[in-house]
Amino acid sequence: MALIELSKLGGSFKMRIGDSLDDFRRYVPENTVIISDENVSSIYGHRWDGFPAIIIGAGEKIKTLDTVHAVYSQLMSYGIDRSGFVVGIGGGIVCDIAGFAASTYLRGIRFGFVPTTLLAQCDAAIGGKNGVNFEGFKNMIGTFNHPEFVLCDPKFLQTLPAIELTNGFAEVVKHALIANFHFFDWIEKNASGMMHLEPKVMTHLIERSAHIKTAVVSNDEKEKGERRKLNFGHTFGHAIEKVTGLSHGQAVSVGMSVASAISLQKGYINSKQYERIKMLLKALGLPVTMVAHRQAVIDAMFMDKKRQEDYIHFVLLKDIGSAIIEKMSLSDISGFIGRDDIF
Ligand SMILES: NC(=O)c1ccc[n+]([C@@H]2O[C@H](COP(=O)([O-])OP(=O)(O)OC[C@H]3O[C@@H](n4cnc5c(N)ncnc54)[C@H](O)[C@@H]3O)[C@@H](O)[C@H]2O)c1
Repeated sequence: MALIELSKLGGSFKMRIGDSLDDFRRYVPENTVIISDENVSSIYGHRWDGFPAIIIGAGEKIKTLDTVHAVYSQLMSYGIDRSGFVVGIGGGIVCDIAGFAASTYLRGIRFGFVPTTLLAQCDAAIGGKNGVNFEGFKNMIGTFNHPEFVLCDPKFLQTLPAIELTNGFAEVVKHALIANFHFFDWIEKNASGMMHLEPKVMTHLIERSAHIKTAVVSNDEKEKGERRKLNFGHTFGHAIEKVTGLSHGQAVSVGMSVASAISLQKGYINSKQYERIKMLLKALGLPVTMVAHRQAVIDAMFMDKKRQEDYIHFVLLKDIGSAIIEKMSLSDISGFIGRDDIF
């Protein structure tokens, strides 16, 4: 079992990679409530027998204040007071909702996560951001608050639909691209093991990726600078996701390809590096290009809540394993992406 511990993040953040779902019982008090979603609960619900549970629906559409309202009501009906504890068991949506509900119920009660998707294990469960979507905008309402523990069991990935696995791969490649060339190199060599969910490969993958995210977050918890690098591929990615309905990971993969192409045009990376990035994404079953209405993508990008004034903090690559943030205006970005509807 690998342990990632960060004293900076909320004082007591501990991530355990290799623990099994059953281990959460060792870290929680008696008055603990589980929050999970209908899919995860239908497969794994028997593993939290004996604990009261709140089961929410699945999918981005349920990441709303209405769902949080329903969670508060059930916490009250279970008689959860300030000594209570919430464990979110599920993907990024469950973690975001459970973390937000626990952070605001009675002005905040203790909570932990058992992430069950690759994306949640490598990304969403780490970093202290919790929240819900609001009026069509992603993650508009939320808190910064860290769970006490994150237990990662790679065995969950065996029941994960293939598309959800590739969504996780996109975030893992992003971590390597912005922060660690050796990890990128390792992913290239282990892409086949990743596709086959080889246990050793997956454990190492989650551990390295989680280390990168915790390191970036610990330098800039409230996203004033360094943490923005985690948005690599997401400025375009979110817009493409919104306009085309592509899955998050697929859209981020196209977004990373576009951001890499701009990095190439600016002379920060060379064409060999650019091709290498695209080859790896393709090897992991991710798209690197797509057709979408150009103006709709640009409009969606500038509607993103992260927009400040008329420019975007755009994340580019200086190298494989090193990112920089540049302020780019709408016309700068439009100039770089050409005039076609192909990204
Ligand atoms: N807070 C953060 O820092 C942060 C970071 C990245 C993403 N996110 C958020 O995470 C969300 C996406 O998370 P996600 O990709 O995990 O999606 P998700 O939570 O929707 O899970 C994907 C699907 O897989 C199912 N599932 C989960 N675990 C399973 C398992 N082991 N076996 C079978 N099915 C399983 C779920 O029921 C769901 O249908 C988005 O809302 C995004 O905004 C948050």
